Amino acid sequence: MVTAIATINLKGGVGKSTMTAAMAEIMAGSFGKRVLLVDLDPQTNLTTMMIGGERWQELNTSHRTIKALFEQALDSRAPAFDIDRAIQRDVSPLRSVTGIDLLASSLDMIEISEEVAAWQFDEPDSLEPLSVLKNAVESVAHHYDYILLDCPPNMGIVTRNGLMVADAYVIPTIPDVLSTYGIPQIQKRVAAFAEKSGHSLKALGLIITKYRKSTNLHRTTIQRLQNAVLDFDALRPEDRSTTERPPNVIPFWVPDAIAIAGAADYGSGSSGTLAKRYGGGEVFETLEDLTEHVMMNAKIYT
Ligand SMILES: Nc1ncnc2c1ncn2[C@@H]1O[C@H](COP(=O)(O)OP(=O)(O)O)[C@@H](O)[C@H]1O
Ligand SMILES: [Mg+2]
Repeated sequence: MVTAIATINLKGGVGKSTMTAAMAEIMAGSFGKRVLLVDLDPQTNLTTMMIGGERWQELNTSHRTIKALFEQALDSRAPAFDIDRAIQRDVSPLRSVTGIDLLASSLDMIEISEEVAAWQFDEPDSLEPLSVLKNAVESVAHHYDYILLDCPPNMGIVTRNGLMVADAYVIPTIPDVLSTYGIPQIQKRVAAFAEKSGHSLKALGLIITKYRKSTNLHRTTIQRLQNAVLDFDALRPEDRSTTERPPNVIPFWVPDAIAIAGAADYGSGSSGTLAKRYGGGEVFETLEDLTEHVMMNAKIYT
């Protein structure tokens, strides 16, 4: 059965798209899974990491991105969207990695999101504006073991379309004060979404990204995040001031590594191994352990 995992954070630049791509490539390349990537961010970073800017242009003009999907939902006279034609097959830039498909995003999603938000505003009790992506993905979901949804850095209507598809979510974060500040807010918003939509999803935890061993602040921040969970669990239920348990810190911290940044570069080459693409050695092992942990927990809890 397919398991869908959303990558969310209200902040940009914390490694959401990079981690989504890395997990997909490792799920496919190391664990032989079939993965559908769904890029929901108008910045299209995940899309360009996988297929480059030129191919994206072609898709965009031929109505094969999520922009066309949402346009069709908004206006039945819009050009037809065909999900089978839109999905790009075997998109990993590495020749040795097969089994990753992509539903691309579009820079034009910024305007479209506003129109979808207005639609929801007009019909506040309808689940239709939230279910556009879900209705489209349903027909292809059985082809995959995992669907990974890279969300924009907000909790707008497009992210909520992603949450509607997701069984679980991860929150990538850099372990510093500013990056972790909004985490309780994310949890609150996801809880509010679940309440309103009737669709609940499992918090798989925080993915620590761009971790620098030599930076004191990084270590103390991770400690603080871990302690928050321990402290919450030690409280008697009647003493809990919030109902949300702070998210677990996934115990494999992704280092700040040039190779990981380089993997996002579409021109970085198609030969070579997956391990080498992600820095080899310890860096790659951490990414593999992290991905395995996410896969296992997603399957246990969903
Ligand atoms: N572990 C890492 N080590 C070094 N650079 C990273 C790492 N993760 C992400 N980056 C870089 O940080 C920048 C932001 O990452 P990105 O995945 O685009 O973040 P987001 O999707 O949250 O906006 C990119 O330039 C990316 O290459
Ligand atoms: Mg991104």
